[in-house]
Amino acid sequence: DWTPAKFVDMTVADLKKTVGNQKVVLGLSGGVDSSVAAVLLHKAIGKNLYCIFVNNGLLRKFEFEDVLEQYKDMGLNVKGVDAAERFLTALKDIKDPEEKRKRIGNAFIEVFDDEAHQIKDVTYLAQGTIYPDVIESVSVNGPSVTIKSHHNVGGLPEYMKLKVVEPLKMLFKDEVRRVGSELGISPLLLGRHPFPGPGLAIRILDDITPEKVSILQEVDYIFIKALRDWDLYDKVWQAGAMLLPVHSVGVMGDERTYEKVVALRAVESTDGMTADWVDLPYKFLQNVSNKIINQVKGVNRVVYDISSKPPSTIEWE
Ligand code: XMP
Repeated sequence: DWTPAKFVDMTVADLKKTVGNQKVVLGLSGGVDSSVAAVLLHKAIGKNLYCIFVNNGLLRKFEFEDVLEQYKDMGLNVKGVDAAERFLTALKDIKDPEEKRKRIGNAFIEVFDDEAHQIKDVTYLAQGTIYPDVIESVSVNGPSVTIKSHHNVGGLPEYMKLKVVEPLKMLFKDEVRRVGSELGISPLLLGRHPFPGPGLAIRILDDITPEKVSILQEVDYIFIKALRDWDLYDKVWQAGAMLLPVHSVGVMGDERTYEKVVALRAVESTDGMTADWVDLPYKFLQNVSNKIINQVKGVNRVVYDISSKPPSTIEWE
């Protein structure tokens, strides 16, 4: 029988054996998976684990600061690296979702490579990859059909010479949460909604500009904060906002406006492989929509996504 305690014991023993006293660099995202992977590795190899949290310029509002704060009391060695410029430059004019993912993956690799060189003698790159990331990236409808490449860092380039270690690769999200709880990670961190590695890049349909990122950050912030305020956050598996590549006509005073449309999405799920849209209260949606339209300049219409997966994936890209 699988239990979190047994998994922790086995994995820690395993990591001690394979990694030994070699140095490991781990990309933290602030989310459940990478945090659990970090604490597991820390248990196994202690100070030889170097965690890096990258600001890719595509995070939620206040996320970089909040996440660094959240790791303060966990005993991990965490370095925050602000690489927003690098990512946004790499993404300039790119519209294709998979191309966005590829460029973001490459930029992550470059940042980790730089950091690994500074630390010196690093052998491993650790990632919080979980089972659905592996299957959805490889094939769902048959061999070699990639639905979406969920691996944020796919195959490493030859020159890096780093080996990859992914201790959660065989687990589903609910199991990762149970393992995290076994490891004493705070329920607040373990209860965080999943957030994709490419971040807001795949929630901005079409090309990405700093202006679009900041509009979406404001919208997302209002939506997520309202979910918390209305005590709905924990009833939802994942939520977020998409910035659509359409403009719609509006009226403000006696002026005609022609501005952006955002879609809100909230789903229930256990593993992200299937998902149902959440029947959020109309009063809540009304409140959030008013706030967004009144407070976020450049948005004049809010819609709510009532599609389930399959066929409609959670992210729009
Ligand atoms: P989809 O959109 O495929 O999403 O229904 C399922 C789950 O995976 C997340 N997702 C990603 N996570 N890199 C990630 O780390 C990605 O490229 C990526 N694409 C989707 C999505 O947020 C949801 O939790």
